[in-house]
Amino acid sequence: MSSSILVTGGAGYIGSHIVLALRREGFWPVVVDDLSSGRRELVSAEVPFTEGDCGDEALIRPLLRREGIVSVIHCAGRIRVDESVRDPLLYYQGNTLVSRNLIAACVAEKIPSFLFSSTAAVYGNPAEIPILEETPLNPVNPYGRSKLMTEMMLQDASMAYGLRALSMRYFNVAGADPDARAGQVIPFVSHLIRRALRVYLGEFPQLEIFGTDYPTPDGTCIRDYIHVSDLADAHVRGIRYLLAGGASRAVNCGYGHGFSVREVLRAVEAVTGQPLPMVESPRREGDPAALVAQADWLRKELGWTPKFDDLPTIIAHALAWEKKALHDFQ
Ligand code: UFG
Repeated sequence: MSSSILVTGGAGYIGSHIVLALRREGFWPVVVDDLSSGRRELVSAEVPFTEGDCGDEALIRPLLRREGIVSVIHCAGRIRVDESVRDPLLYYQGNTLVSRNLIAACVAEKIPSFLFSSTAAVYGNPAEIPILEETPLNPVNPYGRSKLMTEMMLQDASMAYGLRALSMRYFNVAGADPDARAGQVIPFVSHLIRRALRVYLGEFPQLEIFGTDYPTPDGTCIRDYIHVSDLADAHVRGIRYLLAGGASRAVNCGYGHGFSVREVLRAVEAVTGQPLPMVESPRREGDPAALVAQADWLRKELGWTPKFDDLPTIIAHALAWEKKALHDFQ
């Protein structure tokens, strides 16, 4: 039981891939998920599963004891920037307060280490690319602020109680498990690659390019797309680092190079072999022109070597999953 890891949100997109990676590496993941956006089917029946709120200390403390948990990976949370602007308190509840209670449960049960799903949104509109972990933090929406507050709580808990924590700042997570065992399932399809593939599969008539007048080489936004399975592998390495006594810090999770919206759409056309119907639209509110990570720490200190740092591969895995999900998860 000494390698039991609690994964909150383990039935969600990123959490389910982390569970797969932990099992592959000989850990014993235990999942808690309220199934508000995750799906039970994404978690193998062999993995202990509790349906519930990971901010409920009365639920979590006995679970931590019973399962002999040595570390927590906290993926549960709300992820829509637009929704956070419309209803910020939902985000301060679902992201910040839930995290506060989960951290309190961990401190009370003397859990030594904690990995947190943070986001590049903590940087806001950075003045310089690539973005270092030391780049000033200036989130521009409640989603980013709700995540940054959790990072701050973890820093304070680290100082006060010795809970060692890694805040993993995700850039644009994309793709799906290469064997199509997991992928994105939330009904709201907003992310670029998923949306483009759903256009190809006939669910939407055309892809809107949000903004063609950005100060980038082709006028469209640049993002650092990271394959979800590589991201999951980074979490396994993060857990090993913490279990070995590694110090608290924040970590950029990206490949360190970006693609413009137009480049992504060209790659989608190359993978599908078909022209993608698209139209140029105005900018989407709140989109920074470019977000590209400097993610050297992950590679140098954790020995992380991505396996899927290739846009067509990311798209091909996402497409295989979308075809399966259209069939299995509608
Ligand atoms: N885009 C389009 N058309 C679409 C969808 C997206 O042109 O139909 C563009 C966006 O305007 C943006 C780029 O594609 O320029 C990527 O957009 P996504 O919605 O795929 O991802 P974001 O960069 O907006 O969001 C990601 C994470 C968020 C995180 C944010 C940090 O998904 O959780 O980065 O800024 F908050």
